[in-house]
Amino acid sequence: MSTRDGYVPTVVDRAWIEATAAPVHPVLAMIDAAAGPDGIPILDREAGRVLTALAAGRRRIVEVGTAYGYSTLCLALGQPADGTIVTIDPDRSRTERARGWWRRAGIPDTRIVVVNRPALDAFAAAASEPALAGPFDLAFVDALKHEYGAYLEAIVPRLVPGALVIADNVLWAGRVSGERPSSQGDGTDALRAFNAAVMRDSRFTATILPVGDGLLLAGFRG
Ligand SMILES: C[S@@+](CC[C@H](N)C(=O)[O-])C[C@H]1O[C@@H](n2cnc3c(N)ncnc32)[C@H](O)[C@@H]1O
Repeated sequence: MSTRDGYVPTVVDRAWIEATAAPVHPVLAMIDAAAGPDGIPILDREAGRVLTALAAGRRRIVEVGTAYGYSTLCLALGQPADGTIVTIDPDRSRTERARGWWRRAGIPDTRIVVVNRPALDAFAAAASEPALAGPFDLAFVDALKHEYGAYLEAIVPRLVPGALVIADNVLWAGRVSGERPSSQGDGTDALRAFNAAVMRDSRFTATILPVGDGLLLAGFRG
């Protein structure tokens, strides 16, 4: 990624962006501080800022993979004040902690619905999960890497034209491009296939931002 004169942004540029950006929300900092010691993988801070910016004007969001609710809060902070999020994670102990942090950040409980079951089961059980009926104008995917393609197919019928689909970890710490070695079954092949499929899918206009661990952005044409 370089400019026309060959300049490639460096760590100095990233540090300048970090120093210039608005301070991180104190509750996001709390979640970040808890997630590391607990071994909970969460969104990178820069990627979180991107999510917050992209959530502007998006009133109905669905998220796959809540964990401690860092990305959920990034989305909620960017949404209009009457926006809602349905977030899916089978791990209730994580999402209960997440709810506590969302409350501390002043997000009313009514804005965030948690679905505690595996996402593909939840999407398939339309009758028992009315919150997942949609329509949604943004979807964020950050759970099992080998299921990304299946999450997308479950989400597509629930999207409005112009909706944005975002997926995290699509560079998988350099393993997807081959910059770093991968091993069988570590999710690399699934992510490669997912990225290639979405970027060539005529239902979307898609790209990958090399931010954090790689964010795939796909605008839904409808
Ligand atoms: C990378 S973490 C999510 C991090 C979160 N998006 C953030 O940035 O704050 C992945 C989460 O996916 C959840 N998960 C695992 N299997 C799942 C499934 N089948 N459906 C939905 N979520 C699942 C895990 O419990 C874990 O909390």
